[in-house]
Amino acid sequence: MTPTKDDVTIIGRVNYPKRRPLANVIVIGSQWGDEGKGKITDLLSKSADVVVRYQGGVNAGHTVVVNDQTFKLHLIPSGILYPDTECIIGSGTVIDPKVLIEELDLVEALGISTANLMISQAAHVTMPYHQLIDRASEERRGSQKIGTTGRGIGPTYADKSERTGIRIVDLMSRDRLKEQVHWTVNYKNLILEKLYHLSPLDPDEVEKEYIEYADRLKPYVIDASLKIYNAIEGRRNILFEGAQGTLLDLDHGTYPYVTSSNPVAGGACVGAGVGPTMIDRVIGVAKAYTTRVGEGPFPTEINDEIGRLLRDRGAEFGTTTGRERRCGWFDAVIGRYAVRINGMDCMAITKLDVLDELPEIKVCVAYQIDGQRCEDFPSSPLELAKCQPIYETKPGWQQSTVHCQTLEDLPQQALDYLRFLAELMKVSIAIVSLGASRDQTIVVEDPIHGPKRDLFYPSDTAGEN
Ligand code: IMP
Repeated sequence: MTPTKDDVTIIGRVNYPKRRPLANVIVIGSQWGDEGKGKITDLLSKSADVVVRYQGGVNAGHTVVVNDQTFKLHLIPSGILYPDTECIIGSGTVIDPKVLIEELDLVEALGISTANLMISQAAHVTMPYHQLIDRASEERRGSQKIGTTGRGIGPTYADKSERTGIRIVDLMSRDRLKEQVHWTVNYKNLILEKLYHLSPLDPDEVEKEYIEYADRLKPYVIDASLKIYNAIEGRRNILFEGAQGTLLDLDHGTYPYVTSSNPVAGGACVGAGVGPTMIDRVIGVAKAYTTRVGEGPFPTEINDEIGRLLRDRGAEFGTTTGRERRCGWFDAVIGRYAVRINGMDCMAITKLDVLDELPEIKVCVAYQIDGQRCEDFPSSPLELAKCQPIYETKPGWQQSTVHCQTLEDLPQQALDYLRFLAELMKVSIAIVSLGASRDQTIVVEDPIHGPKRDLFYPSDTAGEN
C-alpha cells in the first residue's frame, strides 16, 4: 500500500523539543572531586526550579556558607537552602538512610524546611554490611587499596550490578523489606564471616533499624524520573548536580582509583532518568589548582612546601573523612579531557584566591611520555604512570583577590592566568570564585540564561585591547 501524505507527516514527524528557555543544566566536577561544586550549584540553584543529584552517596560532601553559617551536606542538594527550589535525590544515587536522616535533622534544626525534598524510589540503599565490606576489602587490598571513603559506596553499587541490592522502594513495604533484608543479610554474613572473619549481622536487628528509617523517609519517596519529566514538560528549570569528578568516573576516570558511579555529564541522564535531548548545557567546575583524595595517579602533585601552602590556604581536608587532600598545579591535560568527556559548554574556576601569595604559578600544558609530547589524557594506566608534566610558568599576582567583584577588579596577572587556562582547555570561563561565601564570586556571564557562546575565552575581557 502506498503511504499517503498524512501517513508520512504523522509517522515521520520528528518530535523536536518545544521551545523553552535555555534551562536544563548539568554541573559536573572536572578534576578528582572537591572542586567546589557545592558553592557553584548553590549559586546556580537560584535560577533553578528543581535540583537533581544524580549519582554517588554519602562519600560526597559539600560545604556551603550562607550568612556565616556553614552547612556540610552529603546527600541533600544544596538547593534546599532556597525555599522554592525542589530537590530530588535521584535514582542513580546510593542512600545511606542513617546519614540522610541525620542530615534532615541538621537542616531542620537550622530552620530550613525539607518539605521540598524528594527521594527516588529507585535509588539503592547502603546497608550496614556495605560499610563493613568496604573497610574490610580495603584492608585486604593492602598496597593495592583504593583509599575509599569507607562509606560502603563501592559495595552498594556492586550489589546494584549484581542485582542483590535493596532499593528505597523495597523499604516502603514491610513484607518486602523483611524478605529482602533477611535474605541479603544471611547471604552477606557468609562473606563477612568466611572471607573477612568478621562477626555476622543479626537480620532481625537490621530489619528493625531499617523499618525506622523507612517510616521517617516515606513522605519523601517519589517516582523521580516521572517528576523530573513533568517538570521539564512544565518548562521549569532543572539543575542536575553531579558528585565527585570526571577523573573519579567508573568508566572514564583513573580506574581502578575511581568511585563506583558515573559523575560525568552522561551519568546525569542515566542517574536522573531523562533523555539526552532534555539537556541544554553542561557546566564544569575546576579549582585553579588540583587536588585529589585517596590513592591513584596524580601527575601534577607537589610534595614540597608549595603543596603544603595550597593545602593550608585552601583548607584542603576532606568534608567526609577529614583526610588531607593531595595538592598540585593546574593540569590542563585533565581540563581538556573533562571538556571532551562531558561536552562542556563553559567552566567555573574556583579558589583562585588560594594562589594569591605565590610569586610564580605553574600550569601543566601537556605530558611527556617516553620522550614524546602528549596533549591528550592517556586512557592507559601504564602510559599515565609514565607521564611527566610539561609546565609553563606564569607570574603570580601576590595580592589579595578575595574582595574582587568583577573581572576588572582582578590583578592583570590573575586575569592572564585565567585566560591562559581558558585557551589551553578551549573552554569559556563563566564564573570565577574567590572564597567560600556567595558574594565572593565573579559571574562573567550567567551560564544558564546567557547566550551559548564563548564567554571568557575570547579576548574581549577587561584589560585587553
Ligand atoms: P568511594 O567513592 O568511597 O568508593 O572512594 C573511591 C575514591 O573516590 C577514593 O579515592 C575517594 O577518596 C574518592 N572520592 C569519593 N568521593 C569523593 C568526593 O566527594 N571527593 C573527592 N574524592 C572522593
